[in-house]
Amino acid sequence: MSSRQFSGKIAVVTGAGNGIGRASAIAYAKEGADLAIFDREKEALAETAEFVRAEGVRAVEVVGDMTNLEEVTAAFAKARTDLGPIDILLNNIGQTARENYSEFWESKPETLQFVVNVSLMTTLICSRQVVEEMRARRSGKIVSISSDSAMNGDIGTVDYASAKSGVLGFTRALARELGPFKVNVNAVCPGPTNTRAMQRIPKDAYERAKNAIPLGELSEPEDIANAVVFLSSEKARFITGQTLMVNGGRVFY
Ligand SMILES: NC(=O)c1ccc[n+]([C@@H]2O[C@H](COP(=O)([O-])OP(=O)(O)OC[C@H]3O[C@@H](n4cnc5c(N)ncnc54)[C@H](O)[C@@H]3O)[C@@H](O)[C@H]2O)c1
Repeated sequence: MSSRQFSGKIAVVTGAGNGIGRASAIAYAKEGADLAIFDREKEALAETAEFVRAEGVRAVEVVGDMTNLEEVTAAFAKARTDLGPIDILLNNIGQTARENYSEFWESKPETLQFVVNVSLMTTLICSRQVVEEMRARRSGKIVSISSDSAMNGDIGTVDYASAKSGVLGFTRALARELGPFKVNVNAVCPGPTNTRAMQRIPKDAYERAKNAIPLGELSEPEDIANAVVFLSSEKARFITGQTLMVNGGRVFY
C-alpha cells in the first residue's frame, strides 16, 4: 500500500457525491490519498465515502453547500482537524442552468447569478481556504474542473461559458502567484461526459453531442479523473497554469 503515489497525502474533492467528483475521489483513494469529500447530497456522499474507504484510506465527509462561505469554512476546518494539512484540492463543483437553460436574450438575472456562483465562485472561495497553508508549506496542487464550453461557446450557455472561462483565468493568475512557492495550479476541461446531467437529456440531443466528438463517444467520469490524478501528481511537477482538454477532440485548444 505504501507504494501508492499519494500515500500520506490529503486531498479535498468538492462535489464528490456524483459524477466526475466521485470518480476523482475514488481515483485519488486508489493512489493512497486520504480524502475529505464535500457535497450537499448526503446519501450520495455517504456512498462515495464507502467506495473511498474500500481502498483502505481515510475519508471525512462534510455535507454542505459550497456556495455558502460559512459552510465552506467549516468544511475545510473539519478536513484539517480530522486529517491534517491539505496537499491537493480538486475544485469540481459547477453546473449549467439545466432546467432554466435558455439563450441569453431570454435569461433571468437570478439564473445568471446562480450559474456563476456555483460554477466559478465555489472555486475561488474553496481555493482561498488552502492557499495560505500551501504557500507556507511550499507545496500543493490545485486542480479545477472547467469545461470545453468555455472555448466552444455552446448556444444557451452564456452564463456557464462565462463562469468556466473565469476558472481558466483564475488558474493562470493563481499559477503565477503560487509558482514561486512550488504550488501547481491547473484546470481540466471535460467535454460532454456520461454523468447524470447528460443521461437526462433527450436522445436526439445526446446523439448530436456524441456525433460532434471525433473519438465518437462521450467521455466517462473516469477519463476526467485520470487527468485530474495526473495533474495532482509529481509527474506534473513542471506543469502549471495550464488547461488540459479531455473531450475526445470536440474542441481543440
Ligand atoms: N458532465 C458533463 O458533461 C460536464 C462537461 C464539462 C464540464 N463538467 C463539469 O464537471 C463538474 C462535475 O460535473 P458532473 O457532471 O460530475 O456533475 P454532477 O451533477 O454529476 O455532480 C456534481 C456534484 O456536485 C454537487 N454540488 C453541486 N453544487 C453544490 C454545492 N453548491 N455545494 C455542494 N455540492 C454541490 C452535487 O450535489 C453533485 O454531487 C462540474 O464543474 C461541471 O460543470 C461536466
